[in-house]
Amino acid sequence: MAKELKNILVNRIHDNALKRLSERYFEGRLIDIGCGIKPYEKMLKPNVTEHVGVDHEASFHSKNNVDLFGTAYDIPCEDSSFDSALCSAVLEHLEEPEAALRECYRVLRPKGYAIYSVPFIWHLHEEPRDFYRFSKYGLEYLFGKAGFEDIEIRALSGFWVTFGQLLVYNIYRFNRGPLRWLRIIDAIGLFLQGGFYLLDRVDKTEQWTWMYIVVARKPDSEKR
Ligand SMILES: C[S@@+](CC[C@H](N)C(=O)[O-])C[C@H]1O[C@@H](n2cnc3c(N)ncnc32)[C@H](O)[C@@H]1O
Repeated sequence: MAKELKNILVNRIHDNALKRLSERYFEGRLIDIGCGIKPYEKMLKPNVTEHVGVDHEASFHSKNNVDLFGTAYDIPCEDSSFDSALCSAVLEHLEEPEAALRECYRVLRPKGYAIYSVPFIWHLHEEPRDFYRFSKYGLEYLFGKAGFEDIEIRALSGFWVTFGQLLVYNIYRFNRGPLRWLRIIDAIGLFLQGGFYLLDRVDKTEQWTWMYIVVARKPDSEKR
């Protein structure tokens, strides 16, 4: 995720959760599906032996860190060739999320873990390639249908962080001219993010999460 002041809070929450889970579940060769600029390469380095980023040719992001060009539906790799898989903030950009999950399952080895982060309440972004939002029930259904097991889904925030972040994004629309020069919007944005974070600590209503993080395992023997 882009490291900016306007979304520093959600990035921290997301990255801390990913770090914790990757330390527990990632090992060996990692495939990073829809890797963009591969922002987690440094964080994941201690846990994996190789970090292979795949993205499509039409990506809006810099392609300097892409190792393989392909699509989430057609990863140019052998079956079961990775020990771990990461797919962060990508599933909502895929026309056929079910086919993409099946492709991840194909390249992952039996007993390997996949970690996905998937938004639930979030504004349109990377338009027009922004197709879906997923509830935890939809995610459970899709991962199960693709053959994954031990599916664990965690909400990363409650109402306050979600609402606060969307409010801050909206305020940033006015970040120009003297407001930008005096960094007033930056100051308001940081103040709001801090306040909404504290509110979320005391009142976390997970049905308002902005993001889920999913951990799922490919079974030992092929079940499909
Ligand atoms: C919001 S960015 C996330 C990038 C990165 N995973 C991260 O967490 O910063 C979405 C990524 O999905 C990629 N993407 C979109 N459609 C894709 C497709 N059909 N196959 C592979 N990657 C795709 C985009 O190119 C982009 O890099």
